[in-house]
Amino acid sequence: MTEDIKKGLAGVVVDYTAISKVNPETNSLLYRGYPVQDLAAAKSFEEVALLLWNGELPSEVECSEFCAFERANRALDSRVKAAIDLLPVDCHPMDTARTAVSVIGANHPLASDSSPEAELRKAKELFAAFPAVVAYDQRRRRGLDLVEPREDLNYAQNFLWMTFGEEAAEEVVDAFRVSMVLYAEHSFNASTFAARVITSTLADLHSAVTGAIGALKGPLHGGANEAVMHTFDEIGIDKNESREEAAARAKAWMEKALSEKKKVMGFGHRVYKHGDSRVPTMKAALDRMIEYYSRDEILGLYDGLQVAMDEAKGIQPNLDYPAGPTYHLMGFDTEMFTPLFIAARITGWTSHIMEQRASNALIRPLSAYNGPEQRSF
Ligand code: CMC
Repeated sequence: MTEDIKKGLAGVVVDYTAISKVNPETNSLLYRGYPVQDLAAAKSFEEVALLLWNGELPSEVECSEFCAFERANRALDSRVKAAIDLLPVDCHPMDTARTAVSVIGANHPLASDSSPEAELRKAKELFAAFPAVVAYDQRRRRGLDLVEPREDLNYAQNFLWMTFGEEAAEEVVDAFRVSMVLYAEHSFNASTFAARVITSTLADLHSAVTGAIGALKGPLHGGANEAVMHTFDEIGIDKNESREEAAARAKAWMEKALSEKKKVMGFGHRVYKHGDSRVPTMKAALDRMIEYYSRDEILGLYDGLQVAMDEAKGIQPNLDYPAGPTYHLMGFDTEMFTPLFIAARITGWTSHIMEQRASNALIRPLSAYNGPEQRSF
C-alpha cells in the first residue's frame, strides 16, 4: 500500500494560531494582525514582544511597566555565567545559548509551574536575561570581561552596550531593533514547531525553548544567517574594492556554485515562493549600515549574488540574507548571528508555547513502516 506521505510536512496545516499570519500570495506577514513592516517602522522591540504575548499593543503604562521589569532582569546570573565558563571558548555560540537556557530553567523557582501567569513571567524573564548570555559569550571569545547592563538604556541599546562595551550610534541601534522585530515571529517554522511539540508533552517552557534552539541551529533554518557571511568570506571581502568589482566577483561565484548544483544559503523559503515579506525592511536597514560604515563593497557582493541567483533560478533572498551582513557590519562575529536570532525569536517561541498549552493536544504523527517484514533471529 502506498501512503500519502507529506515529506517535511510540506503543505500540511497542523493547527490554528492567532499569533502571526504568513501570506505567501501577497508576500505579507502579520503579527496579531499588524503588518511586520509597520511595526518595524514605528515600534520598539519591547512593544512588539508585548503584542506577541498579549495579543494587543501595550498602553503607555503597560509599556513602561514592562520596560522597568526588563531593565531589572538583565544581569547575567552567576550560575549561568559559571556554566558558560565551563564551555570551550571555541564551541559554537548556539551550544552556549542552548546550555544557558537549560541552566536558567533548572534554577528557576517556577520551573514546574506552567500556569499562564508563571509562563508569561518566565517568558519575560528569559527575554530580559538572554542578551547578557550572547553579549558575554561574544566577549569571552575575544578574551574580554563581562560588561554589566545599564538600566538607562533600552533593550537594543543595552544589548549593543553589553556586547561592545560602548554606546552604539543611533543608526546602529535602530538597525538592530529592526532586525529583532523582523526575526521575532514566523508561524509554524521548524524551531517554533519543535517548541510546540515539546510543550504538547506538557514539558516546561525552558525545555521547549532549549529544544527550539537546537532546531534553529541548522543552516536550513536560523543557521543560514551565519552561512550567508561564510559565503561572503569565501568570495572574499575587500574593503578597497568598488561596488561594481565586488558585484562582478560575486556574480561569477554564484554562477559557478549553481553550475555545481550547490545550495546557497540565504535564498529560498518553504512558504514564500516570490520573495520573503521581511526582506525589503531588513535590506533598507542593511543599506543604512552600509552607508554608515562606508562599506559599498558589501552592497556589491549582496547585489551580485542576488542578481545571479534571480537570473539563474528565480529564487529570492530570505531574511537571513540581509541580516547576516548587517550583523557583520555592526561588529558581531559570524557565529554570533544565530544567537541574535534566538534573542528575537524567544518572543515568538514563548507565545506559541503559551498558545499550545492553552489548547493542547499531544503532537504525535504516524509513520509508514518500510523496514524488513517480521523475522526471527
Ligand atoms: N540555493 C540553490 N537552490 C535552491 C535554494 C538555494 N538556496 N533553495 C531552493 N533551491 C532549489 C532546490 O535545489 C530545488 O531545486 P530542484 O527542484 O531543481 O531540485 C528547488 O529550489 C526547491 O527547493 P527545496 O529545498 O526542495 O524547497 P524547500 O521548500 O524544501 O526549501 C529551504 C526551502 C529554505 C529549505 C531552501 O530554500 C534552502 O535550503 N535554502 C537555503 C537555506 C536558507 O537560506 N534557509 C533560511 C530559511 S528562511 C529563515 C528561517 O526560517 O530560518
